[in-house]
Amino acid sequence: MCKTQVILFHSFAIAMASTLIRNIKLLLGTRQADERLVKGESMKALPCIENAFLLCENGAIVAFGKNEDAPERADETIDASGRLVLPAWCDSHTHIVYAGSRESEFADRINGLTYEQIAAKGGGILNSAKLLNKTSEEELFESAWQRLLEMQAMGTGAVEIKSGYGLSYEGELKMLRVIKKLKEKSAVCIKSTFLGAHALPHEYKENRRGYIELLINRLLPQIAGEGLADFIDVFCEKNYFSVEETEELLETGARYGLQAKVHVNQFNIIGGVEACIKHNALSVDHLELLDDNDVSALKNSSTMPVALPGCSLFLGIPYTPARKLIDEGLPLALATDYNPGSCPSGNMNLVVSLACINMRMTPEEAINAATFNGAYAMNLSGTHGSITVGKKASLIITKPVSSVAFLPYSFGSNLIERVLIGC
Ligand code: NIG
Ligand code: FE
Repeated sequence: MCKTQVILFHSFAIAMASTLIRNIKLLLGTRQADERLVKGESMKALPCIENAFLLCENGAIVAFGKNEDAPERADETIDASGRLVLPAWCDSHTHIVYAGSRESEFADRINGLTYEQIAAKGGGILNSAKLLNKTSEEELFESAWQRLLEMQAMGTGAVEIKSGYGLSYEGELKMLRVIKKLKEKSAVCIKSTFLGAHALPHEYKENRRGYIELLINRLLPQIAGEGLADFIDVFCEKNYFSVEETEELLETGARYGLQAKVHVNQFNIIGGVEACIKHNALSVDHLELLDDNDVSALKNSSTMPVALPGCSLFLGIPYTPARKLIDEGLPLALATDYNPGSCPSGNMNLVVSLACINMRMTPEEAINAATFNGAYAMNLSGTHGSITVGKKASLIITKPVSSVAFLPYSFGSNLIERVLIGC
């Protein structure tokens, strides 16, 4: 069995180095620089070039086109005969900084308990928070680093990572500092999200307001001062944070320059989607439940809906109604939600397969959602998510395959031969 090869382009290490990929059977996701997202009917089209070449220099895409127009030579040449080349996955929703694991809850669920029942008896997010607060920054970094390497080998070139298992002043800062170190060390492009409002910690059970004030008055100023986050998130859900609390947090986050990406409509519809849109959220994530009001609100917005089919699979909850969203003319992004409780997997290839199998997305729609729209959901449209001159050369080269549909069809197989990460 051959292992996927991961090539990192460190521009400082190979100044002026050029890599030519030639004889590409299909170069997928070719787009113009001014495109930002794809929605509705257009999601069915995955622009491509047959029998193509692609030239990268210093980790960036500098040219692509028909193979006959390929340059004569480059510092390195890769023959991609029979293979597809596509943009690396853009995973816009993860929680990969965590301590320990929660397989005992997995067994509890098999025995009949729901995610919410497990949380109510002290498991769930609070369980992870207890473990995280006992774990050193170094250990957290090391375990997250290993997860990131695995994701990279599975084709992920850009990823968003959330805090939210600290749930204390020190714990949240510790998580965000780990994410900052991951950003500094990894070739994968990383965005950081402050999710202090992930669950109400035990110590604040009788003092909800105290916790919200800790987030607003102490954590947000410190996080902004240290430049530790790009976005703000809230778990807007019954028994977690109300719509009013969500609005207050998003409004405060915005004052510190943090745009919102919000967990909403996972188990209940409580009016969160409209509230997030009102606060100009970049994305609303989960949406396993969705009503007509949510759909109309999304239609009048620039907010990206994000589906997390790995979470639906793992928890046995409904899948985000992708057909309804796309058929109504809306965009959709796909992400893993990699976390210890509701989706312990960072495999975007599986996410794409699940979207096709269980959400009735076509292979082209699913790939657009996992690349181009995923980049939008991290504010990375200018650098990631498509084959565009000037963008990072973060690419997947597949093994020899018969067609695009063969990728999601072969669910569970590793069809990636090489991953190139331009940084
Ligand atoms: O996206 N729903 C909230 N947060 C995570 C799960 C976190 C956990 O169970 O540890 C999610 O599913
Ligand atoms: Fe999540």
